[in-house]
Amino acid sequence: SKGDPVKGKQIVDTVCAACHGADGNSVASANPTRRGNTEAYLLTQLKNFKAGTRNNPTMMGMAATLSDADMLNVTAYFSQQKPKAREASDKTQMPLGKKIYQAGNSYTHVPACMACHGPAGKGIPDQFPRLGSQHAAYIAKQLNDFKVGTARKNPTMSDIASRMSDAEMKAVAEYISGL
Ligand code: HEM
Ligand code: HEM
Repeated sequence: SKGDPVKGKQIVDTVCAACHGADGNSVASANPTRRGNTEAYLLTQLKNFKAGTRNNPTMMGMAATLSDADMLNVTAYFSQQKPKAREASDKTQMPLGKKIYQAGNSYTHVPACMACHGPAGKGIPDQFPRLGSQHAAYIAKQLNDFKVGTARKNPTMSDIASRMSDAEMKAVAEYISGL
């Protein structure tokens, strides 16, 4: 780890915890929980907010105040936080969500999410982010952002999301939140 998690905790407790939760489990569903994603992934996201290539007004403002050292410190701390299991809030979405997550949609060429994000949603460190136990509303918003392409871009995810319907995004987001 290049950062100092103790210094990172000081910043998180005073600035970030209001939205992301002191223990990394946020209450509001628009605010992502910190689920032990890797430092490298979280650092990329903070740099993207600072550069404006990931466009979220709140987080662009937050990232603007962080120095490179601050970013290393907060991501060192965030990456230590343990995800808390969450139950899918809308279980009626489970069959469709599970099908997409595990097998994709061959008709529209949506690949299985688990090929990259893992069968249990744990991701692959420094390659594919962990998704499991994240808020469904946040996941659905990210998929929509990738699809629309103005707020967030990633070649792989933008292509996948562009092939998904709103109903599929909502269903898979509910399934993921319960992983
Ligand atoms: C997203 C870090 C403060 C609201 C994120 C992400 C990171 C992050 C790394 C990307 C999520 C991911 O990829 O898993 C931080 C840090 C903060 C901070 C280090 C303190 C310096 C806040 C505050 C708020 C907030 C105070 C609310 C006022 C959000 C929201 C998103 C987000 C709404 C999702 C943005 C989107 O939909 O793309 N934050 N955050 N954050 N954060 Fe923060
Ligand atoms: C990121 C969902 C399939 C590679 C993400 C994120 C979501 C997501 C919600 C953002 C995570 C966050 O903000 O915390 C899905 C779903 C899939 C799927 C629902 C199936 C329909 C795949 C596949 C691959 C992949 C098959 C690999 C070929 C990635 C990568 C990122 C990502 C590289 C990080 C993007 C970035 O740095 O901004 N995915 N994913 N995903 N996914 Fe997927």
